[in-house]
Amino acid sequence: MCGIIGYSGHRPAIPMIMDGLRRLEYRGYDSAGVAFVQNKRLETIRAQGKLDQLAAKIKASDAAHATTGLGHTRWATHGLPTEDNAHPHRDSGSHLALVHNGIIENYSSLKRELQSQGVSFSSQTDTEVLVHLISGFLNQGQDIPQAIKSTLDRVDGSYALAVINVHNPEEIWAARHSSPLILGLGTGENYVASDIPAFLPYTREVVFLEDRELVRITPSSWQVFDLRSMQEVDKTPQHISWDVQAAQKGGYRHFMLKEIMEQPEVIRDCTSGRIDPEQGSVVLEEIQDLPIPEVLHIVACGTSYHAGLWAKYLFEKWAQIPVQVDIASEFRYRSPILRKQDLVLTISQSGETADTLAGQRIAAEQGVKVLGLCNVLGSSVARESDAVIYTQAGPEISVASTKAMCSQMVALLLIALDWGRKRSFLSSDFVRRAVAGLSDLPQVMQAALPGMQDRASRLAQDFSRARSFFYLGRGMYTPLAMEGALKLKEISYIHAEGYAAGEMKHGPIALIDADFPTFALAPADELLPKLQANLQEVQARGGPILALTHPGSGVDISPVWEVPQVWGPLNSFLFLPALQLFAYEMAVYLGKDVDQPRNLAKSVTVE
Ligand code: M6R
Repeated sequence: MCGIIGYSGHRPAIPMIMDGLRRLEYRGYDSAGVAFVQNKRLETIRAQGKLDQLAAKIKASDAAHATTGLGHTRWATHGLPTEDNAHPHRDSGSHLALVHNGIIENYSSLKRELQSQGVSFSSQTDTEVLVHLISGFLNQGQDIPQAIKSTLDRVDGSYALAVINVHNPEEIWAARHSSPLILGLGTGENYVASDIPAFLPYTREVVFLEDRELVRITPSSWQVFDLRSMQEVDKTPQHISWDVQAAQKGGYRHFMLKEIMEQPEVIRDCTSGRIDPEQGSVVLEEIQDLPIPEVLHIVACGTSYHAGLWAKYLFEKWAQIPVQVDIASEFRYRSPILRKQDLVLTISQSGETADTLAGQRIAAEQGVKVLGLCNVLGSSVARESDAVIYTQAGPEISVASTKAMCSQMVALLLIALDWGRKRSFLSSDFVRRAVAGLSDLPQVMQAALPGMQDRASRLAQDFSRARSFFYLGRGMYTPLAMEGALKLKEISYIHAEGYAAGEMKHGPIALIDADFPTFALAPADELLPKLQANLQEVQARGGPILALTHPGSGVDISPVWEVPQVWGPLNSFLFLPALQLFAYEMAVYLGKDVDQPRNLAKSVTVE
């Protein structure tokens, strides 16, 4: 989604802002811009496309002296990704410049109203109404904070916004509602940003803003106000201990590959302090005060949704808890039956996905407890949950989610073990075996990953001419098949469908021919004979098959891809990187933009 950075300090602002925008590139964007005040004039420079285009325009201008400014990377929602639609937007008198993330839902009626008053618009964006409204209230004699409040009182939707004005060139005002905004505190310089990495090299002291808060920064001061009462709010800065290196590629060609290869460490970090291999037990402090639910409702999007589907098998088998798994954008608009004794579990890597947040707000409104599973400290999902389990995967930069899913699966497996044991459906011996398997897993995975990448690379070349793929699985490998298909689609742009193998014969098998390969997830488990029967149906129609399986499984298919076998459901953790690596190698072979696939954003903070 869009990225915002605002800088007010003692250094030249534009290089700081461009540096910050580059660290926000991973969010995905299609145009960018900056604004600053210089020689008592408000200047904006904007460009369609990547930051290099903007940098070239800045180079050709004179932006050397400003020490305060705003930057924005836009991911188009209203209006094409053109220069006119890029932020910052200005008021008619060029006194104000504004950047915005989110969606102004009632912008059409506001725009009509402003146009009837003679205001002319220069973009098709929803955002532009904000800057004209603020300007209108200023013209009525209000001061800047009051004009921002009056504007936001008229607005429906979500926003993180920042404003500079020509009359106070060192001052930035910013506000948030349902879109992330963070304050970074330096010495003689302060920042606002949509995401911490924007200013991480310069400060680790941050203040997380809450919904409907307004902030003012200058080089030497910061203040936060409640947008309802306009009273000042006391905020405590927090220290962020992230390593900047952790957000860099670490020698790999792409963030995605680095993140796939980090999964052994991710399993270690996510289980650290949560399993006791000596005792063979699971300790999840975070959920000790949450009653075990009668029904569990899992709500998530994309890859996080697949993690939820996967975990359903464990919750039902191990803890005998009925589970419903919903795509968040569906959950929020149906009438889910939620009872007080149920629990809503939201899963989100970013913790900012608009639909997932809306789902958890519905639960909260109905008085149902919410457990958030997310990766980003202080994110909205985390802050709005009754309890939160951090997946501890570290920053995930690649738009295609990989290690985050691995960490979500680990955390979900731990919860299922904890509840299964507490409900006495699992013996202590069973939990001991699971814990032993989990503590050995990082090593097994670490040893296997390099060979898996080689194999993935060769297989990707062999299958690179395919324009469509089926991914088939059974049981808990069906959600993994869906995830494999999603990965292939999003980074290589090859059409792929993840399907329950047993469902093929009810229609999709009509698509099978010699040009339509099937990626079969064929672990050596009790469902393998059933899966093999389905694969024979595919073979009988001339469909090529690539079978991911275990040594000695007896799967008689070529090509076969064998990965090491471990204990029970932990095998999913070795199938997952195989699927990720296959998609990765395919995208690399086909020359695609692996880390920033077209049309996608890392964090989907709009509906
Ligand atoms: O941050 P979240 O986990 O809430 O994000 C959910 C989806 O937007 C995300 O998983 C998306 O599907 C990824 N592009 C998958 O690789």
